[in-house]
Amino acid sequence: MSEITYQQLNPPQRILLGPGPSNIHPRVQMAMLAPMVGHLDPYFISIMEDTKELLRKTFRTENKLTFPVSGTGSAGMEAGFCNFVEPGDVVVIGANGFFGDRMAEMARRYGAKVVQLTTEWGRIIEPEAIETALKAEKKVKLVALVHAETSTGVLQPLEEASKLAKQYEALLLVDSVTSLGGHELAVDDCGIDICYSGTQKCLSCPPGLAPFTANEAALSVLEKRTGPVQSWYLDLSLLSNYWGSSRFYHHTAPISMVYALHEALAVIRDEGLEARIQRHLNHGAALQAGLEAMGLPLHAQEGHRLSTLTSVGIPEGVDDVRVRQNLLNKWNIEIGGGLGELKGRIWRIGLMGQSSTAENVLIVLSALEKQLAEEGYSIDPGAGVSAAAKGLGQ
Ligand SMILES: Cc1ncc(COP(=O)(O)O)c(C=O)c1O
Repeated sequence: MSEITYQQLNPPQRILLGPGPSNIHPRVQMAMLAPMVGHLDPYFISIMEDTKELLRKTFRTENKLTFPVSGTGSAGMEAGFCNFVEPGDVVVIGANGFFGDRMAEMARRYGAKVVQLTTEWGRIIEPEAIETALKAEKKVKLVALVHAETSTGVLQPLEEASKLAKQYEALLLVDSVTSLGGHELAVDDCGIDICYSGTQKCLSCPPGLAPFTANEAALSVLEKRTGPVQSWYLDLSLLSNYWGSSRFYHHTAPISMVYALHEALAVIRDEGLEARIQRHLNHGAALQAGLEAMGLPLHAQEGHRLSTLTSVGIPEGVDDVRVRQNLLNKWNIEIGGGLGELKGRIWRIGLMGQSSTAENVLIVLSALEKQLAEEGYSIDPGAGVSAAAKGLGQ
């Protein structure tokens, strides 16, 4: 039998400007190398406690039930639906992009009657649409919205939706996968009942955990369930026994990932959440000014654009895949293509966490200008970089 040879692991150092993961902080990288301890070791328990407290600060909540669910952002989404939705419940879901659609699909699998609010991908869900749905249905259990729709670049306003959910006695569930740690998000002040995120975007940590929080109103709904939660792994009551004071074994926490999240949240605390959000705003605005100066159309609705992820139209005659491949192979830069109905129509440029730097704004604009010129798309040379540099105060 011939011997199988494996390559030694040696991944390239990329500039990650796609829809996630983002580049990670050296402190987070170091945390992943820290020695293994048992998952019930007093040291690890102290790290679990710190992580919960740091997560509360980042979510801006006092919610007791706040911890990272093991699994990626979709595990957070699934935990939201499998715990709070029972067969026959009516849920209203903002489906203005790929991840809103995923929410609707999950809710259906848990037996919900889904009222799917759709709009053109790139626009927000208007509060009027939410109110109409709440009025039309007798009793809505939950309203679910994606705060930062990574597939379209839209920032969904939450205040009106929150008021409406309260008025109609429905829970508000929010996906903050692309906003936590990058956009203004105050779970308690905004009246969000259930919120989940992912580690690999604005928290700048590897993918693998889903920060999760739920308030007392949500927990009282959970207590009144008539049947058991269909997912054993994501059952919040079981998980809270492990993450709470009883430490009752549920599953072995991914220790190194919890170290990494702990450190990523500590990095955020050291930078300051407000300063971090402002950094994302400045760099997002500079990138968008640069793209517009290059004559490229921004896809998301004006006034509701994410600073963490910019969606931009691909000009006629330009080869989507070739440009992205050239960015990767010649410039070491990853950007994202469109998802679902926006495939081939937009690029998605992420500036999240560690990746949100002035240098990255300037380099991605320079690289795009060069690659677009190779595609035969004519641009006023340097226009994008100049506009961005002006926005960056350079
Ligand atoms: C808004 C949003 N929700 C949910 C997810 C799913 O997260 P994951 O891919 O980590 O499972 C993503 C991933 O990109 C996302 O952008």
